[in-house]
Amino acid sequence: MKFFLPILTLAATVSTANAFAGISSPSPSSSEATNAISRRETFAKTAALVGGVISFPSLSNAMPTDETPRTVTRMGGLLEKFADTQRGLSILAPSGWNKFEGEVGAYDIKWQDLVDQKENVKISSTPVKSTTVSISALGEDVQAIGSNLAAKRNAKLMKAEERLTDGILFYVFEFAINDGTHQLLSLCVSKGKIWSLDANTTEKRWPKREELYNNIIGSFVPRLV
Ligand SMILES: *[C@@H]1O[C@H](CO)[C@@H](O)[C@H](O)[C@H]1NC(C)=O
Repeated sequence: MKFFLPILTLAATVSTANAFAGISSPSPSSSEATNAISRRETFAKTAALVGGVISFPSLSNAMPTDETPRTVTRMGGLLEKFADTQRGLSILAPSGWNKFEGEVGAYDIKWQDLVDQKENVKISSTPVKSTTVSISALGEDVQAIGSNLAAKRNAKLMKAEERLTDGILFYVFEFAINDGTHQLLSLCVSKGKIWSLDANTTEKRWPKREELYNNIIGSFVPRLV
């Protein structure tokens, strides 16, 4: 699905805050996706037939089929449940952080540590065509997408993963940005939007924040639960 990478490249050159503004999938997307799926199924079936000993390059990027449950731990009160009934989203947010609402074109909701503004969690969303139903429309090679995003951020890619939670495909990236920021980023498509959730801290504070941030990222779903 290299076809979509230029779009991603283009989008990633704009500000992080609005990284996915203006993305609309080109019309061949659904048929491309369908072809890709049938290709994958074909490979998977073939591999199953031969006992999985043959490795096809495209198989390494097969979509996850196992559900990863939504994170529900509140870490003894460090996290609190937040539901936005208007936008239809749920997340475990850091308790006691400042919350900011909707700066148009920048973000939907942002939480910021009271003391250190470099510690923040931000949700943004951008409409996509109704035919774009999964983040895989951006490309199916999550590692390649991560490398691409890392280059645009002047960052080192620490992690690139995909998971299925509540039936939604999420891409999750971890970056060590050259300006000393450590960032987790998750992307998904739902309800006609690309949802982007990012969590920033300093490289120095990352070891202290890692568990909290992973739980925040793991708790987010763009629907009310
Ligand atoms: C997160 O960090 C990046 C890199 O420094 C920065 O561009 C971005 O604006 C930060 N996000 C927020 C919400 O401050």
